[in-house]
Amino acid sequence: MAESKTFRAVDWRDGRVVLLDQTLLPGQETYLELGDWREVAEAIRTMRVRGAPAIGIAAAYGVVLAARSGDAVGEVARACEELEGARPTAVNLSWAVRRMRDIADKTSPADLASSLLAEAERVAAQQDAADHAIGALGADLLAPGCRILTHCNAGGLATYSYGTALGVIKEAHRRGKVAFVWVDETRPLLQGARLTAWELQRDGVPMAVICDNMAGHLMSRGEVDVVITGADRIAANGDSANKIGTYTLAVLATYHHLPLYIAAPFSTVDLDIAEGSAIPIEEREAEEVTLCGEKAVVPAGAPARNFAFDVTPAELISAIITERGVAMPPFGPALRNLEEDRG
Ligand code: MRU
Repeated sequence: MAESKTFRAVDWRDGRVVLLDQTLLPGQETYLELGDWREVAEAIRTMRVRGAPAIGIAAAYGVVLAARSGDAVGEVARACEELEGARPTAVNLSWAVRRMRDIADKTSPADLASSLLAEAERVAAQQDAADHAIGALGADLLAPGCRILTHCNAGGLATYSYGTALGVIKEAHRRGKVAFVWVDETRPLLQGARLTAWELQRDGVPMAVICDNMAGHLMSRGEVDVVITGADRIAANGDSANKIGTYTLAVLATYHHLPLYIAAPFSTVDLDIAEGSAIPIEEREAEEVTLCGEKAVVPAGAPARNFAFDVTPAELISAIITERGVAMPPFGPALRNLEEDRG
């Protein structure tokens, strides 16, 4: 199995949900120990834990906390509702909460906490296995000596401990295939600069951080071979929502005849949504744009908008790498086949 310097974005220890606080990285590695599901919901909203699969796992463990409180049945129902609504775009969140609800519905109150904990641990273990399978399948697609550009953070911090898009990069690096990785800083919250660079540096992957608006320049000079990102929700036709700026990269990659691969667990595929226009796009507080860290970068009182995600149309995507296999265009039938393979 591929090696990576291990950490856990989300964990369960001694009756508490343990989160590596991603708002403090890279400066500080602080683990939060949360004993109340409301704190977990707040950590998801404020992005102390972030990334589609990681917020699903955190929510699942949050539901376990609810089951350990006084009015367990009522508290589990309340926790499911609030945790599911903490962020709207990543379907992994509602997918994980639905799994917990299904277990709660068929479990007696006496067994609720232990059954829910077992299910949350299955969600986490399945994500870990998916990451490694995605890494291997994705690394197969890459040519030796490739120069990769990635956006945001789709690493272990965003999943559990290895990553999807970064899982592909880490495994390709382990096989000696990666010449270089360009890391988009990913304004406004700098997940690329702060988190992806942190993960790649720990694994010794050669890389450099660039401002988001430098990608086209590098592509025009022939310094990028392939773009790999994660996704927060993939519609039935392959349209994929991911961190704001992914669509811009996809247009640039298409113009420069470069492949764009989306790496995501099958839990990110939402076959109930026909196309990307129906994916809810989170809009966050303007302060995330008007401030850079603590520093104001916009004149006081100037308005700003903060769209957290965009949708890349399927026609701009070369392949969708999942743990069940690699879907190639046309994605509608390819994703349905992967769904049916599992039954
Ligand atoms: O707002 P974030 O940081 O949660 O957004 C994360 C992303 O867009 C990731 O690319 C996506 O969730 C995939 S993580 C494996």
